Amino acid sequence: MMHEKTVVITGAAAGIGLAAARRFAEAGAKVLGLDRNPAIKNISKVIPGFTGVPCDLASESEILEAMKSFQTENIDVLVNNAGINPSPSSLHETTEKVWFNLLETNLTGTYRITKAVLERMQCGVIVNISSILALSGARQNAAYAATKGAIISLTRAMARDHGPAIRVNCVCPGAVQTDMFEEYLKRCEYPELERERIRNAIPLKRLGRPEDIADAVFFLASDSASWITGQVLIVDGGDSA
Ligand SMILES: NC(=O)c1ccc[n+]([C@@H]2O[C@H](COP(=O)([O-])OP(=O)(O)OC[C@H]3O[C@@H](n4cnc5c(N)ncnc54)[C@H](O)[C@@H]3O)[C@@H](O)[C@H]2O)c1
Repeated sequence: MMHEKTVVITGAAAGIGLAAARRFAEAGAKVLGLDRNPAIKNISKVIPGFTGVPCDLASESEILEAMKSFQTENIDVLVNNAGINPSPSSLHETTEKVWFNLLETNLTGTYRITKAVLERMQCGVIVNISSILALSGARQNAAYAATKGAIISLTRAMARDHGPAIRVNCVCPGAVQTDMFEEYLKRCEYPELERERIRNAIPLKRLGRPEDIADAVFFLASDSASWITGQVLIVDGGDSA
């Protein structure tokens, strides 16, 4: 089903993006990964069928350069996964620098890469990664939640504009054990207590693994989801139930 398909994944050097790259490659897809971390170039050593290109999504010129380096005419799947949450804060504590930095990667970066990929996608699937924080109203995450809420709106609008040729869906992960989550814990006064608090609040009593999200992304990209578009799939162990 994914055999011979070309899949572009942003933020593929770590966490959820890396797990998604592995999931698609195992299914026989040709995976093109973008990441601002130069380590993206080494991922092909551990994932056959993977090509990694260093690219900061906050830079339009780097996106255009990365697209030129892809030796492919047609792109079947785009996974907009790259995202940052550098310094959680409420709105009045959020500086303009932090605000625009978040917008630049989480929203404008998604706009730029999606526009570039659409040039080579006559028919295909886009899966965006939002966050449960876009829906739950979590504290100290005003700017991040705003960017992730915009990703949901973008998903719904694009599903209308680009159907039936292109399906556009979105996954909202809950707490997933990645570098981003560990960075959050490091900022807490009692990181291990916070980890346990979050874990215990989840009905399925475990934190998410990157593979949990990769499986949901893979499902939405597959023909098994051929009548699903413009939707938000929450994958959070039941935390939002
Ligand atoms: N981990 C969680 O608990 C969680 C929860 C909800 C949503 N998410 C979302 O899932 C996505 C992946 O998060 P993760 O936890 O795997 O994070 P992560 O920090 O572990 O990995 C993110 C990857 O994206 C790359 N990246 C960041 N900014 C970039 C940019 N400007 N250009 C190119 N690459 C860039 C990083 O270098 C990194 O390799 C993000 O959009 C995040 O907001 C994560």
